[in-house]
Amino acid sequence: KKIAIGIDIGGTNTVIGAVDQDGNVMVNRSMDTPKHDDFEKYINDLSGEVKELIKSVKLLNEDITILGIGVGAPNGNYYNGTIEYAPNLSFKGVVHVVDALKKNFPDSYAIALTNDANAAAIGEMVYGGAKGMKNFVMYTLGTGVGSGVVVNGDLVYGHDGFAGECGHTMLIPGGRLCGCGARGHLEAYCSAPGMKRTAFELLALYNAEDSLLANRSFNELTSKMIYEAAVKGDKIAIEVFEKTGEYLGQGLADTVHHLAPEAIFLFGGPTAAGDFIFKPAYESMNRHLLPIFKDKIKLLPSKLKLGDAAIVGASALVWKEIEK
Ligand code: BGC
Ligand code: NA
Repeated sequence: KKIAIGIDIGGTNTVIGAVDQDGNVMVNRSMDTPKHDDFEKYINDLSGEVKELIKSVKLLNEDITILGIGVGAPNGNYYNGTIEYAPNLSFKGVVHVVDALKKNFPDSYAIALTNDANAAAIGEMVYGGAKGMKNFVMYTLGTGVGSGVVVNGDLVYGHDGFAGECGHTMLIPGGRLCGCGARGHLEAYCSAPGMKRTAFELLALYNAEDSLLANRSFNELTSKMIYEAAVKGDKIAIEVFEKTGEYLGQGLADTVHHLAPEAIFLFGGPTAAGDFIFKPAYESMNRHLLPIFKDKIKLLPSKLKLGDAAIVGASALVWKEIEK
């Protein structure tokens, strides 16, 4: 049996999966994405995790051949296998992920990297709800907000390899500071930390001592807690999702105006909240759309298991490399 390793480097966690050619994640492992900036140490720790993963998948099935490693990473560049100036990672400047992994793994492995949201888009296209779709966009909501753009069946890379940075769409002039240093970007409102900021603003605005979200530190609060509070009817939590959806819908409308996709997929932790976020996002998108687009663009949850699209998509990069 042939498998590929998919790695999703997130702002908070790095997830590694052994994936077969049908997109099944056979085993996975997770480690914290470090807060230190020692890239070499990170790659060595990560390589150790990959080796453990390979050991455990070989215990499942002795006939396993590992074909390669695919990586999805914030501000990842497919053209040269690097991560460049990632706002939500602690590594400085440009770090050469593919080169570093090649040192730790035999040359017989195909090793490739793309942007994390691009990886999620590939996962959706090859194994998920975008099968057969020629034009769609994947939005990923997590520590950051990313996007992967597919036009005429191909992922769009652009001139330097960085196309599809919809998380840094301009939303509010002079607004919140984004991780990248600019103000008012969508990511500062619709990422998990952005939602937490909205929660804190609303708690202060209404002086809502009785909210289930009250009296917690910023670090304690998670987007999952906001969801659980919304399910229990907490007004602040529900309003956080309404506001996040309103903001997100504005960004989605821009994306539709630029690209006229058949559908936009949403992926990532905060999308587990279902209608709490999808409904206001869909309404807001349509409110901001030209009549030619109104009610015509599907807004869909990723069809892959939560968190899987990015590792599965990263692993699919390996098959593509091999085909080349
Ligand atoms: C980065 C993107 C990335 C996204 C999600 C953004 O801040 O600019 O490259 O895809 O976060 O991780
Ligand atoms: Na992208």
